[in-house]
Amino acid sequence: MASRTPTRTQNRSSATKRGTPRKTTKRSESGSQKSSGQKGSSTSRSSENRSENRSSGRERETSAFSFGDNGGAILGAALAGAAIGFAANYGRKFLMQSLEATAGDWDEILVAEHEATLAVFDRMLATDETQTWKRSMLLMKLTHALDKHAHQEEMVVYPALREANITHDADTLESEHGYVKTFLYELKQMGPSAPNWLEKVREFRTFISKHMHMEEEQVFPSFKKDLSEEQNSKITRLVNSDGFWMA
Ligand SMILES: [Fe+2]
Ligand SMILES: [Fe+2]
Repeated sequence: MASRTPTRTQNRSSATKRGTPRKTTKRSESGSQKSSGQKGSSTSRSSENRSENRSSGRERETSAFSFGDNGGAILGAALAGAAIGFAANYGRKFLMQSLEATAGDWDEILVAEHEATLAVFDRMLATDETQTWKRSMLLMKLTHALDKHAHQEEMVVYPALREANITHDADTLESEHGYVKTFLYELKQMGPSAPNWLEKVREFRTFISKHMHMEEEQVFPSFKKDLSEEQNSKITRLVNSDGFWMA
């Protein structure tokens, strides 16, 4: 115990000593400025240096959270770029969906998409094993087109079919969409230079063509003939709206 007391005193004393010079220096700076010109100018320079250091420190602190003098311009450019990208994306969606809307009613829009999709299949079937880049690009295009098309049918048309008690056909068609995804998965897994790539694309086209014919010639016409004009317009509007977000 006796040995710990002096240590505390020493610590307190040294803490006071460490703290004191700052106050003492301030006092002596102002005192020195009054009493000695040379000393005063030296201390004044020191004070200016500290002031500059403090000032540059503030600048460094500020620069860590800002873009500096050009911050406004950089932020403005970033916002303008984001706005252009946003507008361009909406413009693209609007253009794509406007083109589709000119196709007419919901079933005519979907038939136009069927035809566009089959055209992509035909371009794929016209490639050879050396055109791997083209095959990959066409597969990406096909995947996007089928994703959008399936979304429109699964989120609007098939639920409307079930609402009209055409449940069995709706379920059959939706189940076939699962196999469409399986074909896409298999093509991605095998790669564009696989020796059986064309064979798989041909098998896929035959499958999806049968699915499309069932929709176009059997399910959609029998559903549409019982729709009122208002119901038909509503489904067209919903298909267009869903297609806009998926475009
Ligand atoms: Fe379908
Ligand atoms: Fe379809």
